[in-house]
Amino acid sequence: MEALPPTLLDLLSNSLVLGQVSPLLPVSALLFLSRTSKSVRQLIYSSREAWRYLDLSPLKSAQLDASPIDVGGVSWRAERMDEALSEDDFYAGPLRGIFSQMHSWRVLKWVQVLVLDGLSVPADLVREIVMEERFGVRILSVRGATHLNLSKLQQVLVYAVRPSRPETVLRFKALYVFGSKDDPKQLPPSIDLLNGGGVTASQGAQIGAHWNSRSAEALQVTKSGNVLSQCM
Ligand SMILES: *[C@@H]1O[C@H](CO)[C@@H](O)[C@H](O)[C@H]1NC(C)=O
Repeated sequence: MEALPPTLLDLLSNSLVLGQVSPLLPVSALLFLSRTSKSVRQLIYSSREAWRYLDLSPLKSAQLDASPIDVGGVSWRAERMDEALSEDDFYAGPLRGIFSQMHSWRVLKWVQVLVLDGLSVPADLVREIVMEERFGVRILSVRGATHLNLSKLQQVLVYAVRPSRPETVLRFKALYVFGSKDDPKQLPPSIDLLNGGGVTASQGAQIGAHWNSRSAEALQVTKSGNVLSQCM
C-alpha cells in the first residue's frame, strides 16, 4: 500500500518546516491556521520556531486608529485621557495590547526578529522591547514608525548599553530605524542571521554590528556601548 501523503499537521510538526514556513506567513495567517484544528493550534502555540520572525506591520489591530471614536461610538481617546494616560501610553496602546496577549500565550519570548515598520512605536515601547525580560527580541525594525522621537530613542539605547548596566547579556543585536519600509533592498535580515550568519554572540552589547548604514550614521553606538554622535 502506498504511503499516505503527509498531512499539514505532519509537515508543520517538523520544526525545520515550521521554522521555514512561518516567517513567510503573515501573522494573521498564522493565527488563522491555528484556528483550523486543535492540534495545529497546540502545535503553533508550543513551537518557538513559529514565532521567531514576526512582522506585525500588516496587522490591523496593530495600527493606531486615527479616529477618536471607536466602533461602539465611545470616545476612547477622551476616556483614556481622563485616566491621565500619557501620550506615549496612548500611541503605544495597540502594540502593548498585542504584546501582553502574546505574553499570556507564552510566545512573546520566542520572537527574535520583530518588524514594526510603519506602526506607532513610541520610544518608551522600544525601551520595553529592549530591556524587559518578557521580550527576547534581537533584531527590531521600526522603519517608517510614527510617534517615535529619535532623540528619546537615542537616550533609550544609550541607557540600554550603558557601561554600568547589570552584568546580563544584552540579547539585542540590531535596530533598523531609517529607510523606507517598502524598500526591498533594506529588508531586515531574515532569521538566517540568527543562525550564525554573522551575529557573533560575544560578550556585552553588540548593538551597532548590524545596523543598516543610514541608521548607523545617524545613531552611532560603538561596540563598547558608547553613543558617538547623532549626525542628523
Ligand atoms: C523628544 O524627546 C526629547 C528628549 O526626551 C524631548 O526633549 C523633546 O521635547 C521630544 N520632542 C518631541 C517632538 O516630543
